[in-house]
Amino acid sequence: MAATPVSSILERIAAAGKSYEGDERGSRETLIDLGRDLVAALEIPSEFLQRSFWAEPALSAHCKLAVNVKLFQHLRDAGDAGLSLSSVADKTGVETSLLQRIMHHLNAMKLVTFSNGNFYATTLSNGLAEERYQQSIDFCYDVARPSFNGFPKFFKENGYKTPADLRTGPFQAAHKSDLAFFDWLVATPPHLAEFDAFMSAYRAGKPNWYDPGFYPVTERLVEGFEPNNNEVLLVDVGGGRGHDMSMFVAQHPQHPGKVVLQDREPVVASIADKERLPFECQAHDFYTPEPIKGARAYSLHSILHDWDDERGVKILENLKPALTPGYSRVLLNEIVLSEEHPTIAATSMDMMMLAHMSVRERTEADWKEIIEKAGLSFVKVYTYPGVAESVIEAELAEVSQP
Ligand SMILES: C[S@@+](CC[C@H](N)C(=O)[O-])C[C@H]1O[C@@H](n2cnc3c(N)ncnc32)[C@H](O)[C@@H]1O
Repeated sequence: MAATPVSSILERIAAAGKSYEGDERGSRETLIDLGRDLVAALEIPSEFLQRSFWAEPALSAHCKLAVNVKLFQHLRDAGDAGLSLSSVADKTGVETSLLQRIMHHLNAMKLVTFSNGNFYATTLSNGLAEERYQQSIDFCYDVARPSFNGFPKFFKENGYKTPADLRTGPFQAAHKSDLAFFDWLVATPPHLAEFDAFMSAYRAGKPNWYDPGFYPVTERLVEGFEPNNNEVLLVDVGGGRGHDMSMFVAQHPQHPGKVVLQDREPVVASIADKERLPFECQAHDFYTPEPIKGARAYSLHSILHDWDDERGVKILENLKPALTPGYSRVLLNEIVLSEEHPTIAATSMDMMMLAHMSVRERTEADWKEIIEKAGLSFVKVYTYPGVAESVIEAELAEVSQP
């Protein structure tokens, strides 16, 4: 197949640049993607090897080292004054000659800058200095990366097949465990806390399903809310420690009814100052019947993608008896994989699923199938440009009259 001419990519970059300056939705992500098209059109194999197998692995290893010695925080705190190599060495305890090489690589990879003898933070390194990104780096480096590194050996040994079970996948091989991923997280501190930080961080900076222009919360949830039916507006099933519900309430401070967060008992028990939260917390195992009946909506954010179809159907079947016909909505906030234009955000999450849960991201046809198997009906998919996850709305299927 003929390669895309560089001139055509440059023209599209110029057009996307104008959209970006005009603050158009999705234009930033389009520009990044076109930047990748440009690199793919220009890079020769030796450069590809160098970037993918030396430069990027060394970069992520240095990020983990930076977490250990608080490198990004020291650079952030120095602000516009920057820090000399010897000051960074004093603050981090890393030997100067080793540090110099690490800092040069971070500079070459554009994570820090260097001028007039000093190193400076960037917007990106300042972002990574935040606690939730520091914990995410720990999770990605210590938990996810060994699973990916083990792919070739694991698949060679299992005959190049999709892992059949959520207890015998690449994650278990890498971490020498026979526990399912979520059980291992609970049993292996501090990875549960790191994973929760990762969940709140990996999509941060992107619009959420309840933000303007995404899912129409007012029209679909607030209008038609019946306080007499049930006091509950929204239940976040498997909502972690509530990062979604905190932001939902902040975005919709005038919302009617109650908002409830549900997750497994150890997760709910680990939430600090529950009484101060603007929502209720409830321990609930979604493999048991949903205890809150007749809420206006039940949101399941990145839940079904963790499970195979059989278990996904079970989760929905446990929700089904709680739904009020013609009133309760089920909102699956999930990636809808495009076969024609798969994005890195979608396929890298698919790889995370393959590595840790032995499951997959789903296409729209897959979503329809799982929803219908559970006896619900597929209503509509809501999307937002540049955002990987869509909202798939479902409801109780109409029972046909005899
Ligand atoms: C991928 S995380 C998604 C968290 C949150 N909804 C989000 O999108 O950030 C999956 C969540 O499902 C929860 N979970 C796993 N098994 C569960 C179960 N049997 N019952 C309830 N929650 C469960 C985990 O504790 C975790 O918080």
